[in-house]
Amino acid sequence: MYRIIIMGKEKEIKLTDLPGIGAATASKLEEAGYVDVMSIAVMNPAELSTIADITESAARKAIAAARKMLHLEFENAVEYLKRRQEVIKITTGSKNLDALLGGGIETRAITETYGAFGSGKSQLAHQLAVNAQLPLEKKGANGKVVWIDTESTFRPERIKQMCEALGLDFQKTLKNIFVARAFNSDHQILLVEKISELLKNGEPIKLIIVDSLTAHFRAEFTGRGQLAERQQRINRHLHSLMRLAETYNLAVYVTNQVMADPSMMFGDPTRAIGGHIVAHASTYRIYLRKGKKDARIARMIDSPNLPEAETIFFITEKGITDEEP
Ligand code: GTP
Ligand code: MG
Repeated sequence: MYRIIIMGKEKEIKLTDLPGIGAATASKLEEAGYVDVMSIAVMNPAELSTIADITESAARKAIAAARKMLHLEFENAVEYLKRRQEVIKITTGSKNLDALLGGGIETRAITETYGAFGSGKSQLAHQLAVNAQLPLEKKGANGKVVWIDTESTFRPERIKQMCEALGLDFQKTLKNIFVARAFNSDHQILLVEKISELLKNGEPIKLIIVDSLTAHFRAEFTGRGQLAERQQRINRHLHSLMRLAETYNLAVYVTNQVMADPSMMFGDPTRAIGGHIVAHASTYRIYLRKGKKDARIARMIDSPNLPEAETIFFITEKGITDEEP
């Protein structure tokens, strides 16, 4: 909630204080991750109109009012947006993988990896948790990390090895990773709200990891009749993550399991969990599979601006690299 000073008094502004935004519309927006007036102030009318299901002219009025309340002149809003839009690309540790990603894991985007067990999804998460803390000139994001851990796969020992390989202080690095164990899917969703509070309190978080994005949902919503509900929840969860990514210029990295696709007779019979919903909400989607020994093959599956391509990298004691051990 943003606070502004009006006539010397502090007042909380709520979404419903905006013209044309009633309780129902506000809750729609909140579900989509637009929780405060600032997030409305920096939207464009078409976007707001689609998400809130209001006319574009109503959306324009609401945005104008939001900017006025926050004393954001249009110029300021543009400046604010520009600042927010300065995308940072966090290195994966492998030049090959970075190239596949167009430079690294991007802020203001969700990057998803999916693949079988042992394909390297969590290993990459560990490497990113270290690399995101590097200064910008070393292809980091100079920020802290939040790790939502659904399967207890976070390993400080692994962070230690990676720190040693990069010559970083392990204790300091570890302290900048907030690890939150998610006990079920509701808890997982709730943790995103907690992250939002940390960010509002000024924690310079530049990377959010969700490992695994889909495991709880998959375990809890098992019946055929529950599929729609499951998809809807994953969708909302991803949208709140995307909202944080956009508002705070941070990167989101999520992992996803695969399942056998019985309709596939030839080729690689694996499909990501969550199907179209996850595919739609992820900005970049990478399929990981094992190669020979420590080699891993990464394939860019879905990207707004990058070609479908494949590359190879290695998982070694030092972490993610291009060097074959
Ligand atoms: P699930 O979570 O089970 O779906 O798999 P994942 O894709 O998250 O796999 P993960 O990233 O945990 O990869 C585990 C694999 O990484 C291991 O099987 C090893 O092959 C490799 N690995 C992990 N640590 C090391 C290490 O210190 N040295 C080497 N050479 N390989 C390692
Ligand atoms: Mg894993």
